[in-house]
Amino acid sequence: MALKFELLKISGNARRGRIHLPHGVVETPTFMPVGTNANVKLMIPRLLDEVGAQIILGNAFHLYLKPGLDVFRFHGGIHNFMNWQKPVLTDSGGFQVFSLREGRKITEDGVLIRSPLDGSKHMITPELSMEIQHAIGSDIVMAFDYCAEPGISHQDAVVALELTSLWAERSLKKLRSLSDQAIFGIVQGAFFKDLRLRSAKEITSMNFDGFAIGGLSVGEEYDITLDMTKFTAPMLPENKPRYFMGAGSPKLIVDLVDSGIDMFDSVLPTRVARHGQALTWKGKLNIRSAKYKFSKEPIDESCDCYTCRNFSRSYIRHLFDRGEVLGQILLTIHNLHFMMDLSKKIRESIENDTFQELRGEVLKYYA
Ligand code: GUN
Ligand code: ZN
Repeated sequence: MALKFELLKISGNARRGRIHLPHGVVETPTFMPVGTNANVKLMIPRLLDEVGAQIILGNAFHLYLKPGLDVFRFHGGIHNFMNWQKPVLTDSGGFQVFSLREGRKITEDGVLIRSPLDGSKHMITPELSMEIQHAIGSDIVMAFDYCAEPGISHQDAVVALELTSLWAERSLKKLRSLSDQAIFGIVQGAFFKDLRLRSAKEITSMNFDGFAIGGLSVGEEYDITLDMTKFTAPMLPENKPRYFMGAGSPKLIVDLVDSGIDMFDSVLPTRVARHGQALTWKGKLNIRSAKYKFSKEPIDESCDCYTCRNFSRSYIRHLFDRGEVLGQILLTIHNLHFMMDLSKKIRESIENDTFQELRGEVLKYYA
């Protein structure tokens, strides 16, 4: 078995766990930085280690387009290719069915998607997605799913759900013929509880190593995201990891943990860093603001990241003012450190039964 999950403690609905994978151990709950193109933007692997990243994400569709599977086979997988020796999870391309929906064609076989690089058309099937993720050599493979867009009708959401179940079965069968990599199934069902229930039943009836909740945080209202998660999470088996796909705001993360979620990922912390926004224990801070021109304080006085130990707000603001990439690098380090620190504090608070206090503290600054 390529994955072993230990459920160490439950406090309310929050879970403290540990996932054993071929490239290391992941303590949960945890945030997973996103490295779509086999790099977490602006972060060298040594810095990823330093901020406490335990597992990072790659994207099957992007990596299939560039550098291509022959390059991964040449290197013997993504770990050697990018020199990151800790666990990697790859998304299946199911999200690109949603994000690249212009000009796509969906059939029972799979999805015809246009490459964002050159407009070329590619037929992605569950079988191809498994071949890609096998060549990449990720520690956790995601089943190929159909992430529906918000506003989808009940009738269309049924089609998306049925394809997701069919493709989940084909994903599992294909991957098992290739390797013993761990694989997660993905629950869909849009914003309809009857469909979430049906999808959860169908997906959890298959022998996956963990389960993800997909199709949420795609533009719907916050209350809907949370309501759907609170409805779906209890239907997932207690003894396997639970992953909410695409959550990066501190508020959503503490609310997801409060709903029994173990893993989450998002480009948000790294993306907003490149636009000058820092996540701190006192809320968001925009470093471009003129009020920091003469501030010798660090971004966050309670943070012990490399950036906060060594540089002032005044200096980082200057770097942004001059368009220097170093400013973006320093904020990316800080924001990822913040996310990993938040994950660690969440884990400790579950162990100490003080998670609700921590959640309250985060919600005070992230409304
Ligand atoms: N990333 C965010 N949401 C989703 C989803 O529903 N499916 C997949 N495959 N990836 C996602
Ligand atoms: Zn910091």
